[in-house]
Amino acid sequence: MHSKIAQKAPYAVDVEEGKSYFWCSCGQSSNQPFCDGSHKGTSFTPIKFKADASKTVFFCGCKQSSKKPICDGTHSKL
Ligand code: FES
Ligand code: FES
Repeated sequence: MHSKIAQKAPYAVDVEEGKSYFWCSCGQSSNQPFCDGSHKGTSFTPIKFKADASKTVFFCGCKQSSKKPICDGTHSKL
């Protein structure tokens, strides 16, 4: 089963230092780029991201990045 492309571009999110975020790997969440539990019944699970600093993070929206959960530019080849 393949993940669904939520969008062919990253999501820019201002994360807070010390906070954990759960990135949606399946593409089905309606709260992109984060997991909302929609992966239930599939083989997908969210990927945890812990912010080491307060900054803007570009989370992968296409779900094909090889540096999940971070965008690595793969979306430009889709
Ligand atoms: Fe996609 Fe949870 S909704 S991983
Ligand atoms: Fe997935 Fe950029 S949005 S690699």
